[in-house]
Amino acid sequence: MSKTDNKAIIQSLRGMKDIVNDESTLFTYFVDNTSAIAKRYGFSYMETPILEETALFKRSVGESSDIVNKEMYNFTDKGEHEVCLRPEGTAGVVRHFVQKKLDRAGGTQRWYYHGPMFRYERPQKGRLREFHQFGCEVFGVESVIEDANIIMMIKEILEFFGIGFKLQLNSLGDQNCMPQYKENLVNHLSFFREELCEDCQVRIDKNPIRVLDCKNDNCQLKLSNAPKITDNLCDSCNTDFEKLKEILDFNDVKYEIDTNLVRGLDYYSKTAFEFVSNEIGAQSAIAGGGRYDKLVEFLGGRPTPGIGFAIGIERLLELVKMKESKEDIIYMGALDEASVNIVLKIANAKRKTSKTLVEYTPRNFNKHFKLAEKVNANILALIGEKELSEGTIYIKNFITKEEKTIKLEDF
Ligand code: HAM
Repeated sequence: MSKTDNKAIIQSLRGMKDIVNDESTLFTYFVDNTSAIAKRYGFSYMETPILEETALFKRSVGESSDIVNKEMYNFTDKGEHEVCLRPEGTAGVVRHFVQKKLDRAGGTQRWYYHGPMFRYERPQKGRLREFHQFGCEVFGVESVIEDANIIMMIKEILEFFGIGFKLQLNSLGDQNCMPQYKENLVNHLSFFREELCEDCQVRIDKNPIRVLDCKNDNCQLKLSNAPKITDNLCDSCNTDFEKLKEILDFNDVKYEIDTNLVRGLDYYSKTAFEFVSNEIGAQSAIAGGGRYDKLVEFLGGRPTPGIGFAIGIERLLELVKMKESKEDIIYMGALDEASVNIVLKIANAKRKTSKTLVEYTPRNFNKHFKLAEKVNANILALIGEKELSEGTIYIKNFITKEEKTIKLEDF
């Protein structure tokens, strides 16, 4: 479209969409119920800005990651600041934690959030450029019991919505064992360097473990005899990983160990996991997360352990069926002009407790009856000349089929 073509219809951007009607009903249904579960696990709601300094994601998600390298919506603002639309939610929450000096306060913080994230990826089924995440982050808990707790919470969320899933689990080690593992991996890969894809040739130098989850078949072939990350864990990481598996087993949480699962963000250490579904096509990850015990330090804070996850809402909604819960709807109307005011007054009082729809135009009984059926009301409430003079209201209950005229104050 040319800039002068003022009459052309403007479309939403590629990979970005409006959420309306059935989808928005499902969206709020998901957010409301997942928020309720998060609150029961001790999380409180937080919001961070959608726009942040680009440096925040460079330092956390990492300059070697595709997200930062290729997919960020970054630009220079009018004040010459390098800013970007957030590609994920964790970094902003950690920035808040450090900015508010909560790293010095000690104790535990548990937050949940939901909102839009932006990644300039090639759009396809399940992959958008603007998508929504529901995430949780925990600060200050070193125990691996928290890792199990987080995984069980995601399981509870998915089960609430009746979603089948597979849990893939790995441990990435920590600053003690990860460097040695990287060295072993680079030694192995250096024999095939030229045969790896172009991206992996760069990854070997920048962040070799990212080669492990390369989707290229040839790279995967070269990894078949590569050292396994879980065979190189130090004692403390190994003990934690074994304990995590033990707790999950004890709680009947099924999982698969995937030693190539490294996640696309550089901040993880120790536990990393993904929940996948085989019902939504190639983009099968519905949730992902893990530990990030060094991230608070990367962003200038005091050492504080952290762990969290995010669910991709659009991907999940492809799998969600709303549980039947018929909402009570009251339909109110006037049978003549003189009763319109009292109908509106009573309706507004009723709205304090019930969903109440009002027809403003006075109509006869049959017309109101049909309109009430059309909006799926279970109560029809009407006032006309007779009711107005008696201070009463006519009620029909569509479920019990009962009809009666009662005093206004009893309604
Ligand atoms: P992530 O794996 O990059 O992790 O994203 C989490 C989820 O967001 C994915 O599993 C997927 O369902 C969804 N998602 C990602 N990209 C897209 C896309 N382009 N279109 C649609 N859905 C998408 C994170 O973002 C981490 N911040 C999670 C975390 C929280 N780790 C620790 N705390």
